[in-house]
Amino acid sequence: MTAASLARPRDLIREASARLADAGIDSPEYDAAELLAHVLGTTRSRLSLVDEIGAEQAVFEVLVGRRAAREPLQHLTGSAAFRHVELQVGPGVFLPRPETELLAGWAIERAVAAGPGAVLADLCCGSGAIALSVVDEVPGVEVHAVELDPSAHAWAQRNLATTGVDLQLGDMADAFPELDSGVDVVVCNPPYIPLEAWASVAPEARDHDPPLALWSGEDGLDAIRVLESTAARLLRPGGWVGTEHADVQGESAAQVFVESGRWTEVRDHPDLAGRARYLTARLAR
Ligand SMILES: C[S@@+](CC[C@H](N)C(=O)[O-])C[C@H]1O[C@@H](n2cnc3c(N)ncnc32)[C@H](O)[C@@H]1O
Repeated sequence: MTAASLARPRDLIREASARLADAGIDSPEYDAAELLAHVLGTTRSRLSLVDEIGAEQAVFEVLVGRRAAREPLQHLTGSAAFRHVELQVGPGVFLPRPETELLAGWAIERAVAAGPGAVLADLCCGSGAIALSVVDEVPGVEVHAVELDPSAHAWAQRNLATTGVDLQLGDMADAFPELDSGVDVVVCNPPYIPLEAWASVAPEARDHDPPLALWSGEDGLDAIRVLESTAARLLRPGGWVGTEHADVQGESAAQVFVESGRWTEVRDHPDLAGRARYLTARLAR
C-alpha cells in the first residue's frame, strides 16, 4: 500500500455524496457515510476516528455505484433500523420504513394498556419489524405474526428466531383460527399502493421491494378490506386494530371500517409530516 492509494474518510464521503446527489438520492451524505462505515466495519459516528482508508476504498466505490443505480441502502448494508431494533434484510423482503414506526408505537401502547399477557397479531409481517419491536418493548406480550410470501417469511424467520413469536407462513385471511375472538391488538402494514400510482413510486421501492408488498388492486384497498374482516374475526370485543395506508387513503380506508358497521372509534392519524398515515378502530362490544 503506497501513501498515494490512501484516502481520508471525509474526502471519500464528499466525492461519493456528489455522485449520489447527481443520481437523485435524497440523503447523499448520510448514505455515503453509512456505506463507508459498513465497509470499514464501524459506525457512522466513529468514522471520525479513522485516519486513512486503503484497500477498502475499492469495495466502497462499488457500493456507491450500486447505490447510485438506486439499489436500496439497506440491501447494500444488509440491515435496517426500526425503532430500537435492527433487522436483517435483503432482496425478497419489504424494507421497513420510518413512518411505520408510528403504527408500531401505537400497537405497543395498546398492548401495554391491555395488561399482562396481552395477545397481539401482526398481519402481513414482512421482515418481522413490527412483531420484533413489540416483543422488544412489551414485557410478557404474546405475539403472533403471519406472512404470505415465502421469501419474506424466510427473512422474518431469521429476525424472529429466539423471540418466542409464533410466526406462520400463510394468508392473513384465514390466519390463526385458534385465536378467534381472543386477540387484544391486531396491527398491519399491508400492501396499499393503487396500481395507477406505479409511476410515482421511487425506483428503490418499485424495482426492489417485492410486488406482493406494494400493490393491492385498483384503489389500493384490497388488502385493507381483507384486514377489516380478519381483524373482526380475531379480536375480542373492544379489541383494537391499526393499519397503515397511503396518504391519499385517509378517508377511503376509514370508509372500509365505517361501512362494515362492526367498529367504533374509527380514527385516522397523521405522520410527522402531517400526512394521513394510519387508521385505528375498536371492535364494537
Ligand atoms: C408493505 S409490506 C409490510 C411488511 C412489514 N409489516 C413492515 O412494515 O415492514 C406488506 C407485506 O404483506 C405481505 N402480504 C401481502 N398480502 C398478504 C396476505 N394476504 N397475507 C399475509 N401477508 C401478505 C407482503 O408479502 C409484504 O411482506
